[in-house]
Amino acid sequence: VDLTINKGDMGNIKILVTAGPTREAIDPVRYITNHSSGKMGYAIAKVAKKRGACVSLVTGPVNIERPENVNVFEATTADDMFQKVNELYESADIIIMAAAVADYKCSFVSNSKIKKSSNELTLTLVKNPDIAYSIGGKKGDRVLVGFAAETNDIYDNAKSKLSKKNMDMIVANDVTMEGAGFNHDTNIVSIILNSGEIIKLPIMTKEKVANEILNYAVRMYNDKRS
Ligand code: CTP
Ligand code: CA
Repeated sequence: VDLTINKGDMGNIKILVTAGPTREAIDPVRYITNHSSGKMGYAIAKVAKKRGACVSLVTGPVNIERPENVNVFEATTADDMFQKVNELYESADIIIMAAAVADYKCSFVSNSKIKKSSNELTLTLVKNPDIAYSIGGKKGDRVLVGFAAETNDIYDNAKSKLSKKNMDMIVANDVTMEGAGFNHDTNIVSIILNSGEIIKLPIMTKEKVANEILNYAVRMYNDKRS
């Protein structure tokens, strides 16, 4: 494992990163979301910038300082994020989707606050667009990197996402492990390449994980051009 940050080696590369959760409204005061902190995606944006890349970051609502010299685009809902990524993906060489996009949104968003009345309340949810799947279908020679936060059958689940979404590699992590996943500064991940090769990384900071992911992504970017 090479932990050195190669300053400047991404000088001619344009990278697009998604990060954070999305937020799906129920009514004007309530929403559905998940535990994503955005730390992994922001670490990727920051390290890519350090390595000289031109970086665009599409971020859901998070509490992290904006990385310096990165083009930041805010998206609240999955639909917002889908639209922004579709506007930006064409000019990217490497696309890394670290966002935890809500899979569903309310089929109906109330204009006024829903009042408490009966003992049960049923919300009907409808599927959000799958951003990674959509980009995977039209990525051309761009490198597409996804994430899979799993609680079980990590490799099987991650591999099936990798192939279904036409990704070049997927970063899988077991969110039930101590020191991994949501809101931690460290992560324990495995990188699965579309060749089937699996690289199991030890526990490390999210910045070091970001650097490893970028090493493989840059290698794939160069391979596609040689
Ligand atoms: N993803 C996306 N748009 C969605 C859902 C997921 O772009 N609507 C991306 C994520 O950013 C991630 C990858 O797809 O890079 C896998 O996300 P994940 O939630 O693990 O997979 P799903 O296909 O949504 O499957 P499930 O949640 O049922 O495990
Ligand atoms: Ca999902």
